[in-house]
Amino acid sequence: MYTVTLIPGDGIGPEITSVVVEIFEHLKAPISWDLVEAGEKVIEKYGTPLPDYVIDSIRKNKVALKGPITTPIGKGFRSVNVTLRERFNLYANLRPVKSLEGLNTKYNNVDLVVVRENTECLYKGIEYKIDDTACAVRVITKSASEKIAYFAFNYAKENKRKKVTAVHKANILKITDGLFLEAIRKVANEYPEIEYEEKIIDNMSMQLVLNPEKFDVVVAPNLYGDILSDLAAGLIGGLGLAPAANIGEDTAIFEAVHGSAPDIANKGIANPIALLSSSIMLLDYLKLNELAKKLENAISSTVKDIDSLTPDLGGKGNIESIKNKIISFLN
Ligand code: NAI
Ligand code: MG
Repeated sequence: MYTVTLIPGDGIGPEITSVVVEIFEHLKAPISWDLVEAGEKVIEKYGTPLPDYVIDSIRKNKVALKGPITTPIGKGFRSVNVTLRERFNLYANLRPVKSLEGLNTKYNNVDLVVVRENTECLYKGIEYKIDDTACAVRVITKSASEKIAYFAFNYAKENKRKKVTAVHKANILKITDGLFLEAIRKVANEYPEIEYEEKIIDNMSMQLVLNPEKFDVVVAPNLYGDILSDLAAGLIGGLGLAPAANIGEDTAIFEAVHGSAPDIANKGIANPIALLSSSIMLLDYLKLNELAKKLENAISSTVKDIDSLTPDLGGKGNIESIKNKIISFLN
């Protein structure tokens, strides 16, 4: 039996995490949840969106499934998501983007993985203002860049991927992205069997829209990786489908790429597939590979029936109908 920290989160978070919990019961997954609340709803009670009991639970269990958490703008709180990644040194954010057969989307041949550096870049949150001038400090280190490079190339090797594309803007950000690129190139030399290429972020964005099938493993500093993973999700049908894993040396937090989606919260129409796919990554991480495969197959079968799907996928259904359809394929 594994104990996994479960953070329901804000907005659509509680709706989609409860779908995961119910589906894991049907799967008979040997997991007991350590449920802890974080985010907007606990600010009033604890004076912070990230109380210590959340940190303690993750430190103890070393693995968590997390719903999205709203970051209020202008209220002085730092993003819970960024803080957790930094706190547990979850240096790699792994974001697979793969077309699902049967969905009516712009492309049906996308199969790439964004490997996003997860601890530095502009997300350090070092900003200041002098009179009417606002500045942000972008931090790139050799050690974090090499670490994410090894993660990307090892991932490529272990998963029989053929190519790694490094994304940068070193023509303008000569020192920061220059250092990032230098670190990736050094590591690339150690993997001669894997093709390596570099793309400037603006061109990369266009190439992804025009020819997404040309990309395999994409490694990027934090901000470019954040933006490109939403872009890539759009290629396969939207944020309702895109999973993510934040991985460190001994701790991992699984969550969807998307946020708390306040525009559709409490309407019963959120798509739970992104978080379910993140929970498939969690099952694989715990070496419960058979259960992972079973859930993956059930989702593949479910998306072929447009009527049961949520509106973001063009369906007439809702979170209940999609959940019931998935469960029907588990039995
Ligand atoms: P968002 O990802 O929450 O929503 C963007 C658009 O995608 C919205 O139209 C939303 O309805 C749709 N969408 C997202 N997930 C969906 C799903 N599962 N099913 C159907 N439609 C879905 O991004 P937004 O609105 O920019 O951010 C909202 C809040 O979430 C902000 O406070 C932001 O800071 C936070 N956020 C949290 C993240 C996390 O917890 N890791 C990641 C990204 C944003
Ligand atoms: Mg994002």
